[in-house]
Amino acid sequence: MPRDSWLVTDSDVQQQVRIAPSILSADFARLGEEVRAIDEAGADWIHLDVMDGHFVPNLTFGPGVIKALRPHSAKPFDVHLMISPVDTFLQAFADAGADIITVHPEAGPHLHRTIQHIKSLGKKAGVSLNPATPAKMLDYVLEEVDLVLVMSVNPGFGGQSFIDSQLRKIEAIRKQIDKTGKAIDLEVDGGVDPETSRRAIEAGADILVAGTAAFRGGPSAYAANIRGLRGE
Ligand code: DX5
Ligand code: ZN
Repeated sequence: MPRDSWLVTDSDVQQQVRIAPSILSADFARLGEEVRAIDEAGADWIHLDVMDGHFVPNLTFGPGVIKALRPHSAKPFDVHLMISPVDTFLQAFADAGADIITVHPEAGPHLHRTIQHIKSLGKKAGVSLNPATPAKMLDYVLEEVDLVLVMSVNPGFGGQSFIDSQLRKIEAIRKQIDKTGKAIDLEVDGGVDPETSRRAIEAGADILVAGTAAFRGGPSAYAANIRGLRGE
């Protein structure tokens, strides 16, 4: 593959590919140590999957855990909220130390208002699209957001297989982002491993979330796992 794995060369704005390990696949009994280990292994961001057993069929953790993890890493905390309603919890996640707060359009009645709310808290705002949610959902909010998160699995669980149809969506959103001329991040989440990461990067992604592929093998494997996801 004759391309520089660090650059999204199809993009007008060349951006470094960043890796955001999801602690969903970490050892929950040792979360602080796990965050430190994945940070030292080269993670660019720490991805935190918040699930409520209602918007998605699984439960994880809330702002209390994120606040407790905050001193364990200075890297950006990328908080993916799979909860509904979401608006009433934004302040708590901002206070807990989130740097980026990403919401799903289906999680509340007024996506534009939710985005403005996140930005008013001094945080970066992301919008996440489920596999069946069309890119069109972004038409009237794209210029307002800092990040678009394309789900390449149905949200709720780690360890699922990458859904190939999402590559077309990534390509379409890459074009839309480039048209804006703004530095909007394009993140992909779900079933990302060294093979699917290469395809997601080729489609235009610049941030890759990985749970299983980042944390497999325990702490001694984390640095090699992250290098593999970068295509090194
Ligand atoms: C799924 C979460 C993902 C998940 C990815 O709902 O949003 O972040 O942890 O896990 P893997 O990489 O195992 O698919
Ligand atoms: Zn996620």
